[in-house]
Amino acid sequence: MDHRKLKLDELNRASVSEFKAQDKLPVVVVLDNVRSMHNIGSIFRTSDGFAVEKICLCGITAQPPHREIEKTALGATQSVKWDHYVNPLEAIEHLRNEGYKIIAIEQAENSIMLNDFIPTKTEKYALIFGNEVNGVSDEVMQMIDSCIEIPQFGTKHSFNIVVSAGIVLWDFFSKIV
Ligand SMILES: C[S@@+](CC[C@H](N)C(=O)[O-])C[C@H]1O[C@@H](n2cnc3c(N)ncnc32)[C@H](O)[C@@H]1O
Repeated sequence: MDHRKLKLDELNRASVSEFKAQDKLPVVVVLDNVRSMHNIGSIFRTSDGFAVEKICLCGITAQPPHREIEKTALGATQSVKWDHYVNPLEAIEHLRNEGYKIIAIEQAENSIMLNDFIPTKTEKYALIFGNEVNGVSDEVMQMIDSCIEIPQFGTKHSFNIVVSAGIVLWDFFSKIV
């Protein structure tokens, strides 16, 4: 069987304006003080790929436009909606008032393993990812409705934040859409 790789124009991707108009996964990604601009850009690109509603950049998380973010976002800062909150607690309060279930993606006591989590199709979710060193902050962990953990089977303590976002967003997408 021939597996000729597709050319870019054969991928039939949406334009930025088509993307903005299309239905979205009912998920907002919240970044709690993410330090690396390359991670931030990669999360934009991943969020574009799974058509998330919005990214909330919180605390020290850098905002577009920025050359270092663009290196990995590759233009996804133009398609994916984003806003910035100085304090992640404000973002969470706002999202809760808008009816989002607030979920930390973190390794914590009483977390639900990702494979056991069944999202409700009618629900909206705010998924919080934490800092590369400290994880989701303790104050934020006090405000969540639940916590989802990705199972790991090797020697390392955690995944890279972008890898975590890719795993979790695909899991939500495949279970909801
Ligand atoms: C590199 S990890 C942070 C590790 C840090 N040592 C800590 O105390 O959490 C960055 C972020 O990736 C996500 N993450 C990484 N591995 C994960 C896992 N196994 N389950 C859930 N989230 C994970 C979390 O959002 C975490 O805050």
